[in-house]
Amino acid sequence: MSTFQPVRGMRDLLPEEAETLNYVVGKARETASLYGFKEVITPIVEPYELLGAKSGEEIRARIFKFKDLGDRTVALRPEFTASIARLVTTALKNEPKPLRTFSVGSVYRYDEPQKGRYREFWQANFELMGSNKPEADAEVILLTNSMMKNVGLSNYALKLGHVGVLRGILSREGVDDKTQNAVLQRMDKKEYDEALALVSSDKCRSILQALIELKSENVFDTVEKMEVLVQGYEKATAAVENLGAILKLVTESGCEIKTVDPAFARGLEYYTGMIFEVYVPELNIALGGGGRYDRLVEVFGGEPTPAVGVAHGLDRIALAMQTQNTVLKTAQKKRVVVIPIKEEQKSEALKIAQMLRDSGISVEFEIMGRKMAKSLEDADKRKVDYAVIVGERELKEGKVVVKDLRKREQAEVSVSGLVEKIKA
Ligand code: HAM
Repeated sequence: MSTFQPVRGMRDLLPEEAETLNYVVGKARETASLYGFKEVITPIVEPYELLGAKSGEEIRARIFKFKDLGDRTVALRPEFTASIARLVTTALKNEPKPLRTFSVGSVYRYDEPQKGRYREFWQANFELMGSNKPEADAEVILLTNSMMKNVGLSNYALKLGHVGVLRGILSREGVDDKTQNAVLQRMDKKEYDEALALVSSDKCRSILQALIELKSENVFDTVEKMEVLVQGYEKATAAVENLGAILKLVTESGCEIKTVDPAFARGLEYYTGMIFEVYVPELNIALGGGGRYDRLVEVFGGEPTPAVGVAHGLDRIALAMQTQNTVLKTAQKKRVVVIPIKEEQKSEALKIAQMLRDSGISVEFEIMGRKMAKSLEDADKRKVDYAVIVGERELKEGKVVVKDLRKREQAEVSVSGLVEKIKA
């Protein structure tokens, strides 16, 4: 019989990979706490209608959707934003605004598997509800910057745009919402010719073309040139101004924005304002992305609630850290094995193991019934720091033998002084 493998696009994370992912999760939690975001935990399975409602064709087509045994059409969440918007219209409805939520966990998309692209992956998600001010947008960008810095990545770059610019032009030229979504989908994939082909107005096409081709020296210059290009388009002009205000706040607070891309669009349909992504030069996939979505809560039946948020792709961050040889800054805990020499010392040895664990020391107990030499050899191979050997003779004097497996020294130590000796 052949052996089982994980489902295509899904992975097992082995101890080292799990350690790195957990490290990144820890950094995301720290970042959330630094910026005042409170964690909420929502279900992985949600009503399909909720997840499909405003995510956009691109994600909708990739949702893992199925009927549960009660004949409900449900789905595995492809992101967190819809779940948080649901919460804001229900359990968190009466919470004072601004509301800052943080979530972390696995999400599911039927993407084509490749490097950094999986069907089950992890996101850290931050949503800031209740403010339409540029400082709210700035906060979400700044926390992304902090997260990248805190995990130890270097040379990461932030890319900024604003969907209000493209939508402002398209609506003024009478392009309906559905076609607008289709245009933005193509733009997101950099299929500019296909995007332009969907627009019938010559004037509209030529402005879009100019935005796509706009190049400049620096990001502020880009915004100025965008302002000139969209002159006469009220909504697009307001969007460019808003983009400029966010850029100024973020830059002046010390965070560099590498690019402002006037033709930047993202796969999700619910964005109404600023959008951004973060990259490292070694990988050509985004490590995180987000933006402003002022109408989603209303679509879900809630009060009109301006909102902005971001999701960080934790598997991709871990991959970037591996590519850049980033060192995990964790306090290395000492590891100990406790080995009873004979059957008669087992209970006493377990008691000693428990005493060490109660003091926060990590202990592996010899459970294979091996002879001491074999057990020590194994501990050595697995890079354990100390072996505590519990023998009859030493026990009678209230002592054990402690072997320092790194220094290759050994000493008799009183049981009462054992914790201190190992922690030293
Ligand atoms: P998103 O851009 O679809 O945004 O996903 C965010 C991040 O998840 C991406 O930048 C990427 O790092 C990671 N990601 C996406 N697909 C995959 C995949 N197949 N494999 C591995 N990683 C992947 C959102 O999900 C929005 N909910 C973000 C947001 C929150 N906007 C407002 N609030």
